[in-house]
Amino acid sequence: MARSIGIYNNKGGVGKTTLSLFLSDFLSSITINKKKSKVLVMDFDPQASCANAILGIEKVSEITNDSLTLPFILNSRLDQKKGIDLSRFIFTRERDNDAKTKKTRLGNLDVMVSEPKLALNFDEKASLNDSLKLARWIASELATEYDFIFVDLPGSISKINRFSLVGAFMVDYFVVPTELNRLNINALSGTLKMLDNIREWRGYGNDYNLLGFVLNKADKRTVQYKLHKDELIHFAKIKNCKIYKNTLPPTPRLSDAADDSIGFITLSERYDNYYDNVRNLVIEITRDLGYIRN
Ligand SMILES: Nc1ncnc2c1ncn2[C@@H]1O[C@H](COP(=O)(O)OP(=O)(O)O)[C@@H](O)[C@H]1O
Ligand SMILES: [Mg+2]
Repeated sequence: MARSIGIYNNKGGVGKTTLSLFLSDFLSSITINKKKSKVLVMDFDPQASCANAILGIEKVSEITNDSLTLPFILNSRLDQKKGIDLSRFIFTRERDNDAKTKKTRLGNLDVMVSEPKLALNFDEKASLNDSLKLARWIASELATEYDFIFVDLPGSISKINRFSLVGAFMVDYFVVPTELNRLNINALSGTLKMLDNIREWRGYGNDYNLLGFVLNKADKRTVQYKLHKDELIHFAKIKNCKIYKNTLPPTPRLSDAADDSIGFITLSERYDNYYDNVRNLVIEITRDLGYIRN
């Protein structure tokens, strides 16, 4: 059964898409418990940046032109209420078996693509209850196909974003990437409030688990970091969640790792000197999902 993990922070630019990519990238490439995992990324941000990073901009525009997108599925299901073959809407980044290397290759990774026009269409047509029903439907359709489903969410979600809320309603676990500075700490109460709203809208018996905060662009030596660490500890206490010990440093290299034009073939090429940072974070999160046996 799939575990679905929502990457969310109401603030933009904190690393939601980057973290969704890194987690799905690693988990689709390495073996856990001697097994290759089946991993899906569902891009619930209408801007589709995660799908762009994985499949490349040309492939994504082809998919959009052919209307093979996530909002298309949701709109059709809303209108017709009949069966839809989801496999037509899933695209795979394939492992490059031709290149000569002994290093771990980037693995097969499935993606469902988003698109702004039909997402807005869905926002305008669907009720909150429609989002809930569709979230349950799509989660149950995919549950037996995957080990991990990553849901990349946009910032600034509100009650009217019925498309992105489908994503928020289907996840079992939330992870919140954040930076440690004044603007990010200010934005966190809004994020946590929205997570409370999501809990309320999902209703009794359909709760999620908030795993914790991932520090992105984190440099322990900076004044900002030292100044705001205690405030983050406070938020983690209130929400009974953790702050991930493994962090991601601020570096252009990690920004480039999400650049689809570079054409990486192996994990070590993509993450370079930061391979261990990303790997350790992925392992820490995967443990909390109960996936890795100690
Ligand atoms: N650890 C990092 N170091 C340097 N740049 C980063 C890092 N994480 C993310 N970025 C860059 O910051 C920008 C915002 O990241 P992104 O993942 O798109 O945020 P969000 O999805 O929350 O809006 C992107 O240009 C990305 O490449
Ligand atoms: Mg994003």
